[in-house]
Amino acid sequence: MSDHPFLVAQCIGKTFGAVMALDGVDVEIRRGEVLALLGDNGAGKSTFVKVLAGAHRQSAGELRIEGVPTSFASPQDAAAAGIATIYQELALSENLSVAENVYLGREEVRRVAGIPFLRRGAMRKRVIGLLDELDAHIPDPDLPVGGMSGGQRQAVAICRALNLDAKLVIMDEPTAALAVAETRKVLSLVRRLADRGCAVVLVSHNISDVFAVADRMVVFRRGRKIAERRRDETDPEEIVSFITGAHPSLRTDERKSAAYA
Ligand SMILES: Nc1ncnc2c1ncn2[C@@H]1O[C@H](COP(=O)(O)OP(=O)(O)OP(=O)(O)O)[C@@H](O)[C@H]1O
Ligand SMILES: [Mg+2]
Repeated sequence: MSDHPFLVAQCIGKTFGAVMALDGVDVEIRRGEVLALLGDNGAGKSTFVKVLAGAHRQSAGELRIEGVPTSFASPQDAAAAGIATIYQELALSENLSVAENVYLGREEVRRVAGIPFLRRGAMRKRVIGLLDELDAHIPDPDLPVGGMSGGQRQAVAICRALNLDAKLVIMDEPTAALAVAETRKVLSLVRRLADRGCAVVLVSHNISDVFAVADRMVVFRRGRKIAERRRDETDPEEIVSFITGAHPSLRTDERKSAAYA
């Protein structure tokens, strides 16, 4: 069972009317690995992520989870399969505490004479454990999220994903709005997620972030996967040339249209 990658996407296509947003995309997503998705605006990254997250149904192709063909009718189906997606607008509740956000919608309850009571102590303890494990620099889980920095918010969202027992965490541009020091912290959280056995997909336009943290990189261009490299077999220059369409391996008409784009 664990010989299989966590998720295999095979020949995924997605059309929106006449627009072909994805075309024949094959990607393997493995446990313990950070996979970066790169590509220019409109390349199909978010559409691919949404297919993995159950937000879009693919028009063609198949997803397999641990070797088993799977189809998602909704984001709830993907969540039940262990896929958590952290979108850029984090969907945290400002006036609730860190611990309350981590447990939002799935609070632990104890019943006494049929009356439900929140198990605050147990939840708080688990959140402290998760924050600690991630070395998340949040001193107190009872603090409201409203006063927190962008990096701390990312940490809360990651804890939430872990608390849902996510096996795959997908992050769409997690550092886009962060300052340098905060970016570094979020990247180390991303690395730690993979090191504890999660599969991580990181969508990013930031080449230096990607080289700091990703094990593998996949480049999309006009809905197709045009390159896949391990970090140790490529360099930023090559990856940028794939993103812009200038790489010599691409068809001449691709490169020409890149020059005029
Ligand atoms: N809901 C939709 N309806 C119609 N077309 C869509 C929809 N979502 C995406 N598209 C189209 O699909 C293509 C891929 O878009 P997508 O958002 O996946 O790109 P992206 O790689 O995430 O780009 P960016 O870097 O700008 O976020 C684009 O041509 C886009 O206009
Ligand atoms: Mg996008």
